[in-house]
Amino acid sequence: MFLSLKNRMSYSGKMLLDRFQRRVLGRVVPISQTWVQRPAKLDGMVAFLNWFDATNSVEETVEAAHRDWNFRFRKQKYFPTSRKRRISLEIGFGGGRLMLAASKDFVEAYGVDIHNDFARTSSFLTSQGCEGFKLFHRDNIVEIESGSVDYVYSFIVFQHFDNVDEVNFYLGQIERLLSVEGVAHIYFGKTDAETIDVVDAKSFTLRDCSLFLNPETMKNLVETQFTILDFETKLEKKSGSLAGESGQARIVFKKKEKMS
Ligand SMILES: C[S@@+](CC[C@H](N)C(=O)[O-])C[C@H]1O[C@@H](n2cnc3c(N)ncnc32)[C@H](O)[C@@H]1O
Repeated sequence: MFLSLKNRMSYSGKMLLDRFQRRVLGRVVPISQTWVQRPAKLDGMVAFLNWFDATNSVEETVEAAHRDWNFRFRKQKYFPTSRKRRISLEIGFGGGRLMLAASKDFVEAYGVDIHNDFARTSSFLTSQGCEGFKLFHRDNIVEIESGSVDYVYSFIVFQHFDNVDEVNFYLGQIERLLSVEGVAHIYFGKTDAETIDVVDAKSFTLRDCSLFLNPETMKNLVETQFTILDFETKLEKKSGSLAGESGQARIVFKKKEKMS
């Protein structure tokens, strides 16, 4: 009875229930597990896509994806030119909307994530005529060939990690995966706090951000392994609109040149 009631609950109802369970009942599901477990529980493609980026329809998702892809990545400096474009890799692909947009610019669009419904992402991509995509679980990222990726990108994902080790894990993998001329473009949650702010699982609200980095801290983490090409801390909240400020900052970098 309780289970079927829970299944029929609205999205905001589920968020309130989750908050009540965490704060009042002390039932603490690790933040990363909410990203792993929830997608497969959602009914229908629109609810699935809406979990990753608010939407009312598949068409709206595709439109917003192309807008975000063009504004946040494609039109930015250091986006790979045609000669260099072979494989792209998205960290945290969610429903696959940005991979769909990336697949128009790259021969192969790869993605890595931790959620438990890759089948639905595949089905969304296939329904949109997307070919040449590959989905990898985060724990299998080693299956991607070293030095094979021309563009690594991530949008509204690093802010959902629950510890800075995950940032370092991906920086290590980006260093391994990027081709010699490859470029990485990462958006991350920013804070004015001295270094890093992490939300604890008990105070977490479903789908909210949980990791905030002082932009200088992120710069320092990146600088130890890479050459920074571009860095911006004040960004528009919505792609193409000047109203409001985003909670994200962005950093673009490439591998350090090897001394011969
Ligand atoms: C808000 S959604 C954004 C999805 C996609 N980037 C987009 O713009 O539509 C955040 C995504 O990050 C993924 N994620 C969370 N922690 C992750 C991790 N440690 N590694 C890879 N992906 C992760 C979630 O499963 C989810 O798909």
